[in-house]
Amino acid sequence: TRHLLGIKDLNPQDIQLIFETADTFKAVINRPIKKVPSLRDITIANIFFENSTRTRLSFELAERRLSADTLNFAASSSSVSKGETLIDTVNNILAMKVDMVVMRHPYAGAGVFLSKHVKAQIVNAGDGAHEHPTQALLDAFSIREKLGDVAGKKVVIVGDVLHSRVALSNILCLKQLGAEVMVCGPTTLIPKYIGSLGVKVEHDLKKALNWCDVANMLRIQLERQDIKYFPSLREYTMLFGLNKQILDSLDKEIIIMHPGPINRGVEITSDVADSKQSIILDQVENGVAVRMAVLYLLAGQN
Ligand code: CP
Repeated sequence: TRHLLGIKDLNPQDIQLIFETADTFKAVINRPIKKVPSLRDITIANIFFENSTRTRLSFELAERRLSADTLNFAASSSSVSKGETLIDTVNNILAMKVDMVVMRHPYAGAGVFLSKHVKAQIVNAGDGAHEHPTQALLDAFSIREKLGDVAGKKVVIVGDVLHSRVALSNILCLKQLGAEVMVCGPTTLIPKYIGSLGVKVEHDLKKALNWCDVANMLRIQLERQDIKYFPSLREYTMLFGLNKQILDSLDKEIIIMHPGPINRGVEITSDVADSKQSIILDQVENGVAVRMAVLYLLAGQN
């Protein structure tokens, strides 16, 4: 594939190749000399139309570790505010001899749209409530690292599945790798089509946690939802928030993940987020190696 617009673009062999390449890059970035010259002749623009901490910095670091030249574009401080279109904006960036565009955008399908209208390789860094493929790849890579394999593992994705690009990309990625996937949350935050993706649905948090090997706790995305449809935050936390008491009452020790940013005390308490069962910061660490692998492999397609 020339672009990475979603996990839908990948097959299990592609994902395994990304993981094996990321293994190599993870070893590289743990050396005293962290850089390789692989993308020395490539220029990558990171264009973010929506806020980000992890994804933006992780892509930028991945690009620098690969010796690519990088441009960072934040829509809020750009001429987008003067009415310039997405296509014009990107074509102007490409006129400066940019090879690849990493884009985050609030609208689902923005990456697919752009890939049809501009001559650059596009990497989707999150498009609305649609996909966040590199997050799913780094999440699955982190499960593989912790448990040895993803196949046969039971993963529950808890919370605001309806508004979550992380959930959709994770489901598609984990299913491709042979994991069993469950979603858990209030009916109002579980999309109707979820059964068609081959995942189980559970509305009781404790049952879901007793079933799984790994729990991926999603952030409640207040920015994407109409609060009228929703149980109140207090009710949500009571029914679906993960705290130490629930964790300690389970039959076995499970692994806790969160894509970040965390709403501490809402979907997860601090003692759980910071516990030894949590691999939240391993996910962030692995994000750099996984993104290096994605950029390196995509550059090889040209
Ligand atoms: N996980 C994630 O996408 O975080 P950011 O929004 O900070 O990039």
